[in-house]
Amino acid sequence: MKIWTIANQKGGVGKTTTTVGLGGLLSQWGLRTLLIDIDPHGSLTSYFRYDPDSIEESVYSLFKAVADKQDVDPATLLYKTGTDGLELMPAAMALATLDRQAGRLDGMGLVIKNALARLEDRFDYVLIDCPPVLGILMINALAACEQLIIPVQTEFLALKGLERMLHTLKMVLKARQNSLPYTIVPTMYDQRTRASVDSLKVLRETYQEHLWRGLIPVDTLLREASRAGIPPAMFDPGGRGVSAYTDLLEDLQREVGQPVSAGVGR
Ligand SMILES: Nc1ncnc2c1ncn2[C@@H]1O[C@H](COP(=O)(O)OP(=O)(O)OP(=O)(O)O)[C@@H](O)[C@H]1O
Ligand SMILES: [Mg+2]
Repeated sequence: MKIWTIANQKGGVGKTTTTVGLGGLLSQWGLRTLLIDIDPHGSLTSYFRYDPDSIEESVYSLFKAVADKQDVDPATLLYKTGTDGLELMPAAMALATLDRQAGRLDGMGLVIKNALARLEDRFDYVLIDCPPVLGILMINALAACEQLIIPVQTEFLALKGLERMLHTLKMVLKARQNSLPYTIVPTMYDQRTRASVDSLKVLRETYQEHLWRGLIPVDTLLREASRAGIPPAMFDPGGRGVSAYTDLLEDLQREVGQPVSAGVGR
């Protein structure tokens, strides 16, 4: 089971779109994929037409169980997405209260990692969609994953946000035994705008080693897919956005290896 986290402390840079973009492709390729929404706003949960304000079982149930010293089977927190082979562990609004509650409790940094260990046989891939905030939730995601994907919008404010994210990463990694490979993914690239062209240039000059060689273009069909509640891979299979996410996925798989069953159904 491969666990990838999609994170950036800057909001609105394409984290959720990247999660569902890659997740749809993985399931289309026959890989059993779990998407985890750990953003209290629950954009990914809403994408699949579940309501984070009223959902009963969610990622929050895992944290609550640890706090209450009870056991919850993570398999009971999985929801269908309407796409075969693609499941969702949704977010609930209550996640927003965690930092206040969890600060006092030991072991809260490994809640997701421990839960995923119990789903090992069930999935080939797990993608964790983070909130744009450094807190116990992002710490959990970084502790659980073996690959980090950092979407960065190609505009100047977002570059500043990237610096902040990399600083955070350095701090968090000090607590980890092993290193965490990360890939910076330029998103919402519009070749007609100066901001996109110039900021991509800066990214390429500054972050060569960790920067993905491609880019995700602005593609309004990605927005349409989210309105339809269908992963882009199924909504617009031949689209520019999907084609860019396919390139990204192929490069990531080549870099970090593939699970045994990869390629089934392709
Ligand atoms: N490549 C793209 N082309 C066009 N629109 C995009 C693209 N990527 C994302 N969007 C749109 O931009 C908005 C923000 O994207 P998204 O929700 O994925 O960002 P996010 O980083 O998850 O935001 P947040 O920090 O709020 O969780 C959404 O409306 C999404 O549909
Ligand atoms: Mg999001």
